Amino acid sequence: MTNLIAALDTPSLEEGLGLVDKLGDSVEWFKVGSRLFCLSGPTAVRELKKRGKKVFLDLKFHDIPNTVANAVEAVAGSGADMVNVHALGGSEMMRAAAGAAKKSNPEPLIIAVTVLTSMNDDSLREALGSEAPCAPETHAPRLAEMAKNSGMDGVVCSAWEIEAIRRVAGDDFKLIVPGIRPSGTDIGDQKRVATPAMATEKGADFIVVGRPIYAARNPAEAANAITAEIARATKQ
Ligand code: C5P
Repeated sequence: MTNLIAALDTPSLEEGLGLVDKLGDSVEWFKVGSRLFCLSGPTAVRELKKRGKKVFLDLKFHDIPNTVANAVEAVAGSGADMVNVHALGGSEMMRAAAGAAKKSNPEPLIIAVTVLTSMNDDSLREALGSEAPCAPETHAPRLAEMAKNSGMDGVVCSAWEIEAIRRVAGDDFKLIVPGIRPSGTDIGDQKRVATPAMATEKGADFIVVGRPIYAARNPAEAANAITAEIARATKQ
């Protein structure tokens, strides 16, 4: 079953928690990203936990192994249910992160970002150098395999790479999929996008949805429509 994670990329914690209250029981998982964490720190996680919610703390650590391990230990202690690092930090860094996550009780899921869903062939070529092979559909499965071998519980990827990643990492590996756009909504800065139904049919464990919910005129209606789309796609 695909779970919906609503991204709380709001300008303040008050607005974020207002959105949580508006969405009520229809959404269980929320994502705290760098904006909210820079504004309010672990309080954001604690407030969500007080409301009985599950928290994906999306800070995408990318640093030397020792620094990342210490940061993962710190955020895991805040009570987050899922935390993440960048796979491009390397296997040694991911192993250090996985070891740090294990020290926490309860242990959060530790996830690696493969290739950002805001990147395409051109932006990846620009970042990696013009001689390197630059297709996200080649890099994402390779990084996912490396992440699995380094003790990660799953990866963040686009819906476009789900099948290739399942082939190398198997069915138990968690796939968290942002870049979700219900049909008719604005793509914004995302490039490798998919509808909730497409991501569900391909086998995403979680879809991450930000602007299509928090910037909607009626966020509860938008979230309910996405949940209904997931349910229809699951039955097919
Ligand atoms: O507003 P939108 O639905 O595009 O938000 C997607 C959310 O998922 C943002 O908070 C973004 O930081 C996050 N994300 C992403 N791509 C990744 C990892 C996380 O878009 N690879």
